Amino acid sequence: MNKGIAIYPGSFDPPTNGHLDLMERGSKIFEELVVAILRNSEKSPMFSVAERLEMLRALTGHLKNVRIDTFDGLMVEYAKSMQAVCILRGIRAISDYEYELQMALMNRKLEPTLETVFMMPADKYSYVSSRLVREVAQAGGPVKGLVPEIVEHKLREKVTSAKQRETRAIEILDRIDLGGKELDPKETKRKKKA
Ligand code: PNS
Repeated sequence: MNKGIAIYPGSFDPPTNGHLDLMERGSKIFEELVVAILRNSEKSPMFSVAERLEMLRALTGHLKNVRIDTFDGLMVEYAKSMQAVCILRGIRAISDYEYELQMALMNRKLEPTLETVFMMPADKYSYVSSRLVREVAQAGGPVKGLVPEIVEHKLREKVTSAKQRETRAIEILDRIDLGGKELDPKETKRKKKA
């Protein structure tokens, strides 16, 4: 086991089985692994930072040397503040390599003492990404086996509540007259039938 702290940074929106696989592998080779969720992502996330923190804590409860945290700003600054010796990132396919190489070299430029270590998740997860999982779930497809069960459950909740909000919004819009006045719900029904 390597001495020292490693940081596994990412968006984890949502955490997938591939992420978890990497955490399990990383926890075996580092003394302590800190999974760090980026707080200030430009993308509008599906899950809030608090939700991702909660899911990741539940998922890694069995890994005693894994800690979940959040960070803002430059990752290398956060890593330094944690006295980390390296950054852990996963590479699934060759398509990940270019982005990961750029990021690793930029991080090295920013902080030459910090090494990036790449690990491969199990090949059965080589096509699994948070983005595709979100896409499949939002379209009502199955994500079983791609994400842990608690994430699957949370995804279902998210998609259902988003659909309910959408239905409510359509109902409200339906009830609003073009002039801005609310129509009688009976009137709306009559209009729909017409
Ligand atoms: O899971 P992701 O979205 O691929 O993770 C990307 C992440 C969070 C590791 C990366 O965007 C990051 O470290 N952002 C923090 C800002 C930073 O340090 N940028 C310079 C890195 S080249």
